Amino acid sequence: MEKLDLEDPLPDGAKTIGIIYNLKKGEGVNTYDDEAEYDSIDTINAIKAALETRKHNVILLEADKALPEKLKNAHLDLAFNIAEGFGGRSREAQIPAMLNFFGIPYTGSDATTLCIALDKALTKRLLASYRILTPGYALLSYDSPIKALRLKYPVIVKPNAEGSSKGITDASIVRSDTELINLLNRNFDLYHEPMLAEEYIEGREFTVGIIGNGAGMKVFRPMEIIYKKHTQEDFDVYSYNVKQNYKEYINYRCPARLTAKQESEMVKMSEKIYNILGCRDFSRIDFRMSSDGNIYFIEINPLPGLAPDYSDYPMLAGFNGVSYNDLINDILEAALIRTGAGNRGVFAI
Ligand SMILES: Nc1ncnc2c1ncn2[C@@H]1O[C@H](COP(=O)(O)OP(=O)(O)OP(=O)(O)O)[C@@H](O)[C@H]1O
Ligand SMILES: [Mg+2]
Repeated sequence: MEKLDLEDPLPDGAKTIGIIYNLKKGEGVNTYDDEAEYDSIDTINAIKAALETRKHNVILLEADKALPEKLKNAHLDLAFNIAEGFGGRSREAQIPAMLNFFGIPYTGSDATTLCIALDKALTKRLLASYRILTPGYALLSYDSPIKALRLKYPVIVKPNAEGSSKGITDASIVRSDTELINLLNRNFDLYHEPMLAEEYIEGREFTVGIIGNGAGMKVFRPMEIIYKKHTQEDFDVYSYNVKQNYKEYINYRCPARLTAKQESEMVKMSEKIYNILGCRDFSRIDFRMSSDGNIYFIEINPLPGLAPDYSDYPMLAGFNGVSYNDLINDILEAALIRTGAGNRGVFAI
């Protein structure tokens, strides 16, 4: 006798989705911004609630050492990955690589894209080879000879492979070799990784959000980060402190006041960067525009923060008329279409 198929109690189109994340714990903290890139439980719950509005069965999976076991038992249709991973510049790639290993489709970019994008210098070198304008820079280690640098001061110093303004303070800009050496010594002690010294681009700052893939790709209208007051002497930096206290320092304007030509140039640049790096489903890209109108690529976040109240990506989506719940489900939809996970068994990961 044929067995009755009692599986799949979910409504039509609903999936079993696992949100994979790393939580802020407040433990073992070395520097004030140690856990800057991890998520709060409020963000995880907001993503869960958004997915549940579409009747998906949502499972929370913390990206800890037990994750492989949890994945084996969870029977996911798709993973909604926002995990940061642990240690080193390939950390963001750890979970995507594991998901590929288990054959589970997931939202967002793959391991290769995440590895490259987290290495700011490598990304700049790659994009420069496609004639994308990016500030002059040097990648510095403990023993790098500073005197030989041909950078124009002022220079901003950032850890080469961090996000969320980790390691970017209100004293990150230096005007001389001596100041540079002092800051480098301090940062090496704190962050134990190569530092990117980059020419400071004075001018307006923008961030651009992208969603979708191929013909379904959409670029949101750019958002401008407008400084209410300088953050260091006469410089403006969207530092860790400024991001924590953004209401005191920043006005956001979206769409940014740009000429049609400037906006179109920024949007085209964003599409090109997204495609060169092989980004998938969503990303956010930061730019600066100098007073002579040149648009400089600063960095890309293929795994941008999704905190509903303050992350830039949901904020600029909101300005573009896309609610938080719709945004989360649009990211999921992009991944479902791309991977074929909408039709069970057809995985293109
Ligand atoms: N070359 C530059 N010229 C001027 N300002 C810069 C430059 N590089 C960085 N900044 C300032 O520092 C901020 C943080 O730099 P960046 O975006 O590279 O760091 P991040 O930590 O990766 O950011 P995110 O939080 O977006 O991941 C920028 O938003 C900008 O205000
Ligand atoms: Mg940034």
